[in-house]
Amino acid sequence: MGPRVREDDVACDNGRICLSHTIMPILPRISLLLAALSVAAPLLAFERPAILPDSMAQRVLACASCHAKKDVNDQYFPRISGKPAGYLYNQMSNFRDGRRQFPMMSYMVGNLPEPYLREIAAYFAGQHLPSPPIQPTDASALVLERGRSLVLHGDPALKVPACVACHGTQLTGVNPAIPGLLGLPRDYVNAQFGAWRNKTRRALAPDCMAEITARLSLPDVNAISSWLGLQPVPPEARPADSVAKPLPLACGSVP
Ligand code: HEC
Ligand code: HEC
Repeated sequence: MGPRVREDDVACDNGRICLSHTIMPILPRISLLLAALSVAAPLLAFERPAILPDSMAQRVLACASCHAKKDVNDQYFPRISGKPAGYLYNQMSNFRDGRRQFPMMSYMVGNLPEPYLREIAAYFAGQHLPSPPIQPTDASALVLERGRSLVLHGDPALKVPACVACHGTQLTGVNPAIPGLLGLPRDYVNAQFGAWRNKTRRALAPDCMAEITARLSLPDVNAISSWLGLQPVPPEARPADSVAKPLPLACGSVP
């Protein structure tokens, strides 16, 4: 079982499902991106041209070309603004060290020094974009109820803990290292579960999300992502400061 795939992706195997799925929407804007990079790449490398003001906002312009989309049709790129800093830092090191696969991301963060990754993470954690629109779905009421029930209560028979037990009762994440689950593109959520299943997305061991993924069927994943996509993001959504410990499963990426 894998992530929801498009017909033209079926020939691909394992992680390449996610890859071709994600590369397609990017192709049309490569030229725009290259233009952004030609400005931002030297800045990312810490060279400071005399003329441009040296602010973090300047240096991360290239990131915004993919991560600050407002277009509802642009359904793959995850927003990074407002996510817990520790989580953002972990993901950038995951791309750098090969625990997550997305060539452009590995390229963007591959050569950045450690303290700079922390700085970027803190910068985006402090940014807050307007809430994205909800994502309509043709999933049936039965499917949506299954999704809601898994997120809020889990499924004891499958040993799946409630998502809210870790992601926060409001699903807005928990500082410092657990992301929120609202406002993520549905295709992105499906693709992450596919990547955990294919082991192309890994976190530091023990990898709690990989364990949870192994206990969920593909229809359950679709039920979850469909229900999540219908939930509005509260306008002032912020990650919670703490969550009840111990977590229902140990997660190596959570201090
Ligand atoms: C070409 C588009 C593109 C650019 C430019 C880009 N990213 Fe990404 N980024 C992505 C995609 C697509 C993903 C999700 C990949 C996946 O499927 O795992 C991602 C994922 C991430 C994540 C993990 C998000 C999460 O919720 O887990 C972080 C953090 C991130 N990017 C930071 C950055 C930063 C910082 C920059 C600028 C230095 C940047 N990105 C530039 C496309 C891009
Ligand atoms: C035991 C704690 C725990 C539980 C329970 C849990 N998660 Fe997670 N989840 C995490 C952690 C920790 C991360 C960050 C992993 C990493 O660092 O890569 C995460 C990451 C995610 C992400 C990635 C978000 C992004 O921006 O890329 C998604 C999606 C997700 N979880 C969905 C779920 C769903 C749906 C459930 C319920 C079925 C669930 N999680 C239950 C701890 C948990």
